[in-house]
Order: sequence, then structure tokens, then C-alpha cells
Amino acid sequence: RPARFTLDPAFTVGEAGPRLFGAFVEHLGRCVYTGIHEPDHPAADEAGLRTDVLALIRELGVTTIRYPGGNFVSGYKWEDSVGPVERRPRRLDLAWRSTETNRFGLSEYLAFLKKLGPQAEPMMALNLGTRGVAEALELQEYANHPAGTELSERRIAHGDKDPYGIRLWCLGNELDGPWQTGHKTAGEYARLAAETARAMRQADPSVELVACGSSSRSMPTFAEWEATVLAETYDLVDHISLHAYYEELDGDRDSFLASAVDMESFIEDTVATCDHIGARLKSKKRITLSFDEWNVWYMSRAQREAATADPADWPEAPRLLEDNYSVTDAVVLGSLLIALLRHADRVAVACLAQLVNVIAPILTEPGGPAWRQTTFHPFAQTSRYGRGQVLDVRVDSPTYATAKYGEVPLLHATAVRDPESGAVTVFAVNRSQDAALPLEVALHGLEVTQVAGHSALADADPEARNTLAAPERVVPHEVSGTTLQGGTLRATLEPLSWNVIRLA
Ligand code: AHR
Repeated sequence: RPARFTLDPAFTVGEAGPRLFGAFVEHLGRCVYTGIHEPDHPAADEAGLRTDVLALIRELGVTTIRYPGGNFVSGYKWEDSVGPVERRPRRLDLAWRSTETNRFGLSEYLAFLKKLGPQAEPMMALNLGTRGVAEALELQEYANHPAGTELSERRIAHGDKDPYGIRLWCLGNELDGPWQTGHKTAGEYARLAAETARAMRQADPSVELVACGSSSRSMPTFAEWEATVLAETYDLVDHISLHAYYEELDGDRDSFLASAVDMESFIEDTVATCDHIGARLKSKKRITLSFDEWNVWYMSRAQREAATADPADWPEAPRLLEDNYSVTDAVVLGSLLIALLRHADRVAVACLAQLVNVIAPILTEPGGPAWRQTTFHPFAQTSRYGRGQVLDVRVDSPTYATAKYGEVPLLHATAVRDPESGAVTVFAVNRSQDAALPLEVALHGLEVTQVAGHSALADADPEARNTLAAPERVVPHEVSGTTLQGGTLRATLEPLSWNVIRLA
């Protein structure tokens, strides 16, 4: 039987704004060095930024860019990353057992965003691992104070006359995780986050602050951590963070394809925890979510590799976490985007982790080309067509059995209406590995009259990937036979496919 749902603009979830299409640049492996920044590359501009990579990032449609970590930020000394490059110190990066040269720093990050264009917004993470309130205030002053104080004048002397105007700040990173430098208990972190937030607001009441939530839903402290942190910071912060990574384990592809079930539950559980604290405080304020790290990541492989690394070796910009994504990974990534859109009422910020080389939609070779991974396509299409009013989609779909999540609908879908043109885009994943899925969508009260396009990402080989040798092996293709007649959209979704159906 077909999978079905109804679309009606009277029933919406919320607004999908640009910040849902953020990404993450960490000083990790080759994300920055030889990813974004490679002064010797033939395509480098005067600032050492790779123009081929800049063009791909623009095409990807990335908006907010979180920086500089990640685990890296918990040992970060912002002062090392400013001023004349030749005087910047080399430091040990404990998080990734690397040597950080600081050739790319704060000023370079802001210049990189400027080159990307006005849609690129900074999201600066603070070190609350080894540092605290004083250093956060100093960085805020260096970055945002116009002039006339020691720190703002230092920025000006370093060549940046205009303040950076960084509005969005993360109060640390994954401090619930024992792997984090400066790991804390929920109570310790809550106190530090509250003190830092209060002080930063004294300097500038308009800052937007993200408190650290759990580094995954499977953390033993999940929900209790959020409750403890928010009980102390509720009135001082705007968002709480979520991080989630998914991978296929033990050949269980059916469960992997249903990863968004976990992501949606994570979002719903976090919302419930936030609102529980809001209720306890009798507050009208609603905390929103910053899903500031999400992706497919073959983390178990990375852990195996790290376990065999030479402990005496502190390489510069090593090849770390350079996952090469398959068609299956791209379908899952599309489904994770659907999960975010389906919760656009509470997810205010989302950052794909990461942007270049490190678990990224873009790969590069030092001195060589840059190319799009399979996962590039669902992200770029959703950023392009997925902004506007998210319509409430209640799916009636055949199901399949998964080991991890029980019976799961074969169809995962959402739809977004552009309020200006009235155009509607349906984003849909068929989780079946072997059968096509007929889809019927009843349209009520929408202005659309025709199918403007149906693009699919699917392949006879679900393991197909884009590589240096074959960078365009996997690209989306147009699907014929999709119709809109008598108020019903009919389509066939190929097995294991990501679909974008545009109605105009
Ligand atoms: O994105 C890679 C790492 O994943 C980040 O540094 C950390 O925050 C998370 O555990």
C-alpha cells in the first residue's frame, strides 16, 4: 500500500530559518589547515583561503558557522590565535593529539565568514574547560567592543578596526563527557555557565548564549544534566545544545536508516526537560535548542585508529576523521535534516559537524582538488528549498522491523512552504533497502498546481561514494512520472532514496 499524508497550510510546525543550515569548523585534522586554509594552494587567495573550497561552501548553502571547537575549544587560548602570525605560539592540542600552529585564528575566521557572504554568521565557542569567566569576558571585549580599551585597541592594532559583532556564543563544549579537557559534573558546569552568562550579559545584554547539553542521548547523565544546568541558568541563556552522531554498526543497515527516530526522540526529550524546568520556575520563557553537532560519523573506526596512534607523535594537521560517505550515509543525513525540520518550532540553530575534510560534506587534497561528498547534496538541496513554513506532516506509512527501534515507518517526510511564492517542497526518505515506495500526498488549501521537479539520490550500489578518482560518481538525478492531479501528489520513491519534490 502507498504511504500517505496530507498537507494543509492551516497546520504548521514552525518557521525554518537560515540558522538550521549551519555548520562547524573545528581546529581538528585538516578541517582548517589544507581544508579551508592553504596559502600554497594554486587556488588560494591573498588571505590563504582556498577559493575552490569557498565556492563549494557557498553552494552548500551554509549559514551559521560554529568555531573553533569542539573538544579543541576546551584547551583553546584565544590570545594565541591573534596578532602577527609569525609571533603566534605553537601549542599542544590535547583533544586531538596534534600540534596547533595558530596560523589560522580569530581574525582569519571572521575574514573567512566575510568572504562567504552575508548569510555566514559567527558562532563562537568559549573555553569553559581549562578557563573561566575572566577569559570569556576578555575574548568578548577583544571581539566586540568598538574601541578605547586595552583589548579593543589590541584588536585594532592587529588590523581589525571594526568590532566583529559576535552575537551567538557557546558556553563551552561537551563538558558532560569524561574525554573533555576540564570535564565537569552537572553542578560544577551549571555554576560556571551561570557565572559566565551573567558576566557576559553585564558587558552586553544582547548576547545570545548556548548552554552545554548532553554530548549524546546515550550519556548516563542525559536529562539530569540538562535539568541541573537549566535550573541554574534558565533566565541567563537562550539555547541548550544537543550533539548526535550516527553510524551503521555490525551491518545493521535497517537500524542505521532509522537513525532519525533517535534524533527526534532526543529533541523531544530535551524539550520536555527544558519545559519541566520552565514549569518549575513558573517561567513563560521557552528555551530553544541548538543542535550544534550532528552528522553521520564512523566513530567506532576513529576510536580504533586513535587507540593505535603513537603517543609520542604530535602531528600538524593530520588526516583525522576523514570519513568518505556512501549513498546510504547521504540518505540517512537527509533523514536527519527532515528530523530537524520536523522540530523547527524548538530547534533554533543546527550545525552540521563538520564542514571540510573532518566528517564533512566537502573533501580536499592538499595542493589538489576539492569535491562534494554524497552527503553534500541533501544538505545543499534542503538549505535551498527548506526555508519557510514547515507544514505539519503526519505520516501513514507501511513499516519495517528494526533491531534498535522496533517497527519504524518506511517513509520519513516533511514539507516546507515558501510564504512568499506559495511553492511547497516535500522532502522524503524511503527507508526500504529493496522496495520502491508509492507516495500519495493530499493537498488542501495550497496554491500549487504542478510538479516543478522531483530529484532523488539513490543508486543501484548503496555503497557508492565520491572519491578523488571519481568525484562525481554520485549526484542526484531527476525522476519522471511524479504527478499532481486533482489535489493529489503521486510519486514513487526508489529503494533507499532521498527525495526532493518541488511543487509550484
Ligand atoms: O565533531 C567532532 C567532535 O565530536 C567534537 O570535537 C566534539 O565536540 C564531539 O565529540
